[in-house]
Amino acid sequence: MPNKTQQINQQMRGDSYMSTDTVTEVVATGMPRIGDPAPDFTAVTTQGDINFPGDYEGSWVILFSHPADFTPVCTSEFMTFASMEDEFAELNTKLVGLSIDGLYSHIAWLRTIKEKITFRDMQNVEVKFPLIEDITMEIAQKYGMIMPGEDSTKAVRAVFVIDPKGMIRTIIYYPLSLGRNFDELKRVIVALQTADALSIATPADWRPGERVIVPPAGSCGTAQERVEGKEDGVTCEDWFFCTKEVTEEEVYAAIGK
Ligand code: BEZ
Repeated sequence: MPNKTQQINQQMRGDSYMSTDTVTEVVATGMPRIGDPAPDFTAVTTQGDINFPGDYEGSWVILFSHPADFTPVCTSEFMTFASMEDEFAELNTKLVGLSIDGLYSHIAWLRTIKEKITFRDMQNVEVKFPLIEDITMEIAQKYGMIMPGEDSTKAVRAVFVIDPKGMIRTIIYYPLSLGRNFDELKRVIVALQTADALSIATPADWRPGERVIVPPAGSCGTAQERVEGKEDGVTCEDWFFCTKEVTEEEVYAAIGK
């Protein structure tokens, strides 16, 4: 069965749901895509071995790669992620990092960050989420994190948002030189959870408290009623562009916060 966001997207595009067989085929022939199951792997991490995504069933996960330990942009990103870990946990979201470095390099780098580095107002930052060692590049290759045009031995800054059922829901890539926007990553989690909970979509730059998009009417009658303003709380610019108010409190109540 498609999840709620898939159903809404399907309604919005007017197409039919891709079967699990087709999804599996897509995974087998290339990089994972939105709507695919997250490719599974076992890994050694700074927090012990993990079995992915099985160990994370029931949680949202941000699986992200970084190019290399002991580099400045990555350091600023790890400090930011670690400082926001509790905010992500409140959204039932766990963090998992990866780079093509070994475990001892990871441990030494994270210790250096805690002991020596100040970035903005962050200091003495302990990275408590797992950082995967991937010297063989096996996991990075599986997830399409290596982009040879950028660098063939370093992962780009990839972000995979994976839902509690282990499905990939969002993919974002940044090049080596560009640090990620962490407000955006949090916005993505809140927006996906809101879309699932309320069967709506979110417009450009949406933030909780702003109007949301309601799926297109399923019949001419409903479309007419909406345009005439007869549907409770729904306002239409035209038959295909209808919004409704959802307060910030309603958003957080809907996503269980
Ligand atoms: C950095 O994290 O600073 C970085 C890593 C690889 C290439 C360029 C920058």
